[in-house]
Amino acid sequence: MYYFDGSSRRWTSLLTLFCILCLLITPAVSVKRENFKTCDQSGFCKRNRAYADTALSESRWQAPYALDPSTVKFDKGVLTGTVLKKIINTNDNVRLPLKITFHESGTARVTIDEERRQKGDIELRHGSKARKERYNEAEKWAIVGGTTVSAGAALNSDAEKGTTRIMYGPGSKFEAVIRHEPYGIEFKREGETQIKFNDRGLMNVEHWRAKVDKPAEEQKEGDEAVVAESDKEAAEDESTWWDEKFGGNTDSKPKGPEAVALDISFPGYQNVYGAAEHTGPLSLKETRGGDDKYTDPYRLYNSDVFEYEMDSPMTLYGSIPFMQAQKKNSNVGVFWLNAAETWIDITKSTTSANPLSLGIGSEVTTQTHWISEAGLLDVFVFLGPTPQDVIGAYGELTGYSQLPQQFSIAYHQCRWNYVTDEDVKDVDRKFDKHRIPYDVIWLDIEYTDGKKYFTWDPMTFGDPIGMQKQLDDHERKLVAIIDPHIKNEGGYHVVDELKSKDLAIKNKDGNIYEGWCWPGSSHWVDCFSPKARDWWKGLFRYDKFKGTGKNSFIWNDMNEPSVFNGPETTSPKDNLHYGDWEHRDLHNINGMTFVNATYEALLARDKDEDKHPVRPFVLTRSFYSGSQRLGAMWTGDNQAAWPHLEASIPMILSMGISGYPFAGADVGGFFGNPSKELLARWYQAGAFYPFMRGHAHIDTRRREPYLAGEPYTQIIAQAIRLRYSLLPAWYTAFHEASTTGAPIVRPNYYVHPGDEKGFGIDDQFYLGSYGLLAKPVTREGQEGQDMYLADKEKYYDYFDYWMYEGPTTVTVAAPLDTIPFLMRGGHIIPRRDRPRRSSGLMKFDPLTLVVVIGNSGDAEGTLYLDDGESFNYKEGAYIHRRFSYQGATSTLTSEDLAALPGKKTNEYLKQMEKVRVEKVIVVGAPQTWAGKTEVEISEEGGKSSSGTKKVPLEFHGQEGGKAAWAVVRDPGVQIGSGWKIAF
Ligand code: GLC
Repeated sequence: MYYFDGSSRRWTSLLTLFCILCLLITPAVSVKRENFKTCDQSGFCKRNRAYADTALSESRWQAPYALDPSTVKFDKGVLTGTVLKKIINTNDNVRLPLKITFHESGTARVTIDEERRQKGDIELRHGSKARKERYNEAEKWAIVGGTTVSAGAALNSDAEKGTTRIMYGPGSKFEAVIRHEPYGIEFKREGETQIKFNDRGLMNVEHWRAKVDKPAEEQKEGDEAVVAESDKEAAEDESTWWDEKFGGNTDSKPKGPEAVALDISFPGYQNVYGAAEHTGPLSLKETRGGDDKYTDPYRLYNSDVFEYEMDSPMTLYGSIPFMQAQKKNSNVGVFWLNAAETWIDITKSTTSANPLSLGIGSEVTTQTHWISEAGLLDVFVFLGPTPQDVIGAYGELTGYSQLPQQFSIAYHQCRWNYVTDEDVKDVDRKFDKHRIPYDVIWLDIEYTDGKKYFTWDPMTFGDPIGMQKQLDDHERKLVAIIDPHIKNEGGYHVVDELKSKDLAIKNKDGNIYEGWCWPGSSHWVDCFSPKARDWWKGLFRYDKFKGTGKNSFIWNDMNEPSVFNGPETTSPKDNLHYGDWEHRDLHNINGMTFVNATYEALLARDKDEDKHPVRPFVLTRSFYSGSQRLGAMWTGDNQAAWPHLEASIPMILSMGISGYPFAGADVGGFFGNPSKELLARWYQAGAFYPFMRGHAHIDTRRREPYLAGEPYTQIIAQAIRLRYSLLPAWYTAFHEASTTGAPIVRPNYYVHPGDEKGFGIDDQFYLGSYGLLAKPVTREGQEGQDMYLADKEKYYDYFDYWMYEGPTTVTVAAPLDTIPFLMRGGHIIPRRDRPRRSSGLMKFDPLTLVVVIGNSGDAEGTLYLDDGESFNYKEGAYIHRRFSYQGATSTLTSEDLAALPGKKTNEYLKQMEKVRVEKVIVVGAPQTWAGKTEVEISEEGGKSSSGTKKVPLEFHGQEGGKAAWAVVRDPGVQIGSGWKIAF
């Protein structure tokens, strides 16, 4: 649908634009599959699958890779050596430098390069100016820490012949056993093998070779002639080694074949998760055919796949090549640091110690096969044992997610497009009129003057500052879109500078690349270039991007990059970037570099002005490992259809366990018009997306919540208010994510890693560490939800305190106005219950604490608060408390978790002095409280802290299935101080 004729002639452009517009108003159906490659159409994927088939089907197969023992050196946590690849026909060897680094954090990294390319000792075809090395800069973008080399890692002198063994990790509990021939590695934890590299012999590093021009009849495309068994090298399918055609485009491949592939097995592990972004279940499926299996591998090649299909391994907008494997009480993982197009095959096999055991004692092994088109073979290994250990270690490497501004975790109202500044002001007023809170209104591409970013359409947005003034009045914000394609129109200052300063992506001949996107003919800023990033920064200065103010933030879309007339709707692979890297080498990182530049620009615009920058907010569609440091992501162009609502939950859970928890899906669905029921249910689910934004395509009917009519508007308003009242819990969960990498919404396996039955569950989830368990309704007409309670614990309905006891599956009533939402015993949940227009207006509101008593009789929870916008928290301007309720003594205490006071601690505590706890609700209150009428309170610190005081207690006995509960109204204690309530 996005294909254009690239002709620059004006009439063709106009005609094409007209066609596009026609196509845009065609009702949405489904993805144009034929625009995207299958493995069979992707040369290197096909070759490596065929390689795997040969390796696995021939009993005489011998993997041709060996580590030359004479080259092995181990020094201070780093092992180096040379792996030799045997060329069967010639008996020559290709030298592949190997480096294994053991890190302080317990992570190991295995990197394999190719000596000849490393030295630049190859010839490029077609006079290409591309770099000769394998791409070795992915780490520059993805890795920010966790690479301190381990001083404790040591050679194990007990190694059997033909192996090298290294003990490493905490307490030297981990071990890497490196087999020399065929080369392979087993990673062990406490003596037990967890992960195996090249166990099935599928490792393949396509080495450089000169093109041999064969006689004409042998050159036929796709020729896979039957060749003698001994002639393996000649048997390789060369049809896509030197160029590759797809959809009318030819990729020139100046470096020849250069794929890297490796099999990674997880013995005893039945479930693997991650490899985002895909639709389909959280627990990844097998990919080589059969019942309910995919036939293609999971693909990672960031693309503009609008109207994407459900339950599919097709690629989407972003890639995180990080995978975890889970078995009972054990989690391990790998991170495949490669930015080129990547495919992952997954198969499972069952082995049984005793063939007569009828499956008892049998063990499932998950086998994966990773295939990338170019770059290094570079893999990090995490040995757990908990999901948090693995996610935390991955986060240490790639960075934890940004601590976002508070407004950005509240509700966002977007559509393509709010058409004028008056329209924006009108929507703003209507939210107030209907008492629906919201924090941010968004502007899509139509606000610009002819799709020229950094400009405003003078006819429709004549007064952007006045518009923002009205938003500011209620602490609301504006987000405007800025895409990476720059309109190719003379006189437009941005494109003129882009060209004159030579900052754009180049084509294979080294000239500025021209393609098509929203504005028509466009060029793309190359954010791999430091000079381009510097220039980009300048564009966001308040005096440059006139009409923006302190409360305006940015949405970066189409950054895969989306190129309407490009192969697979993206950039040609032989385009060139800064440093002369080919686009193929770094494609999956491209989107992240653009967001990185915007993030830096938002920081700079404030620094330039007043030296007190607020935290940038940038939303991105394309992402890679590390993007979590820069802002939020959303799942792109979904549809207003029930299956898309359902799929959004595993997709967002998958982002959370992939280190990128600030994730959401378009609430309401992007394409098409949702029924009112679907819209209401979508808001109920959206209230649990870490990033909650309503958005809609330009051809859809307006659907701001107040337009739905009753009872729908009230139901939607309730869902949004629920989000607002739980903002203190959400913000604390975001803080936790930003310091430990923990997901914000958490699947069952993460919370209950010992509960095998729950490993496949991906339609319900926990919010933060609060034991809040939600299962939004995602099916039409459904009025009840079966919820899985994994452990022996009490669970209470969030709204009416109905009691349940796990482990079991319970049915929770879910009429249209109800979200199935439970509180697990043992937690304390902070809330702010006063309805406000925006989260900014809640900053100094009092808090409610909900103490949920479980089987142990105790409960615990934390609260993190800061100003929600600046970086002052880095200098101590925050409150971090732990609340604990002890059943034995019936006391609730607040204790300080803050690290040492910083420069700004006192100033902040002073500001927050008046913020108190206005209510304590105890759910599951002991029956012995029945006659009690008061509690005793003592408070340390704060002004009114001397002595103790008595405050009334109300007790409500158990009624039918509903738990007893008690409430202390206005205990009058400060949120920032230490205190004790004795019940
Ligand atoms: C892309 C985005 C969508 C946006 C549209 C116009 O399709 O995914 O969210 O509204 O472009 O900018």
